[in-house]
Amino acid sequence: HDHDLLVVGSANADLVIGVERRPAAGETVLGSDLAVHPGGKGANQAVAAARLGARTALLARVGDDAHGRLLLESQRAAGVDTAGVLVGGAPTGVALITVDPSGDNSIVVSPGANARLSPDDVRAAADLLASARVVSVQLEIPLETVAAVAEAVRTAGGETGPRLVLNPSPPAALPAEVLAACDPLVLNEHEARFLLGEDPAGREEAPEAWAAALLARGPRSVVVTLGAGGALVADRDRTVLVPSLPVEAVDTTGAGDAFTGALGWRLGVGDDLETAVRFAVRVGAAAVTRAGAQESFPTAEEVAAR
Ligand code: RIB
Ligand code: NA
Repeated sequence: HDHDLLVVGSANADLVIGVERRPAAGETVLGSDLAVHPGGKGANQAVAAARLGARTALLARVGDDAHGRLLLESQRAAGVDTAGVLVGGAPTGVALITVDPSGDNSIVVSPGANARLSPDDVRAAADLLASARVVSVQLEIPLETVAAVAEAVRTAGGETGPRLVLNPSPPAALPAEVLAACDPLVLNEHEARFLLGEDPAGREEAPEAWAAALLARGPRSVVVTLGAGGALVADRDRTVLVPSLPVEAVDTTGAGDAFTGALGWRLGVGDDLETAVRFAVRVGAAAVTRAGAQESFPTAEEVAAR
């Protein structure tokens, strides 16, 4: 295997404005100077893993424009293999982000070129998929493209085929065969409640109830991220709560992506799920202490020093 982790997902230019509070409908507020950061859930995961030392590749689509070049540059600077990054078809995806004084964000994404990453693009990248120990996807690319990734992972199959990590963000209903391929499904409280929909488990307060109900839908394992509460790890045999570290949150943008990228890497190099989550929690905690997404992700040395 040439890659510990292949991320198939989005790449966005993040246009970020700090605000005292978010505007209500019809209202205008003044904010900070504009900052433009490389982002997108897929690109963020790839940078997070590569910065930690993972042999990482990205399969994504950007526009033939300045934002696309910003994204390619940030991937290469982190050491990500960008041979799978396709260029053209639409403008690079953009995320309009406001960050408030508590570090919380609100995001609107214009998918742009991400929406043109097609099932054919996935099939054409069969060698790249086969080169990876873990393949990680999110939902800022078309659902049929995600399904094609799950299908490719399933057909590669067996002991040597890659393992699929899926973060259903932003949340959308997932086909049963995609859910069944996840090992793990990685999601936060909001995404868990969305996927559970009408299931009464989704109305319970205990994340153990969500994890059990989600497992019943087919994934081999589930990781529910709980922010400052850490992460819950569940498979058919057991459920374990991994605590977080106390940190001062500055900007939570991309912290979930840092967590999932780190998790994918550790699974790719052979950690069991709980051990991988213990490491990933520390990576996510480090990421919230600094502004931006990719720029805030730690190296392995920084994680060890915490
Ligand atoms: O998860 C954070 C990311 O979500 C941002 O980088 C933004 O691009 C959106 O995709
Ligand atoms: Na951050």
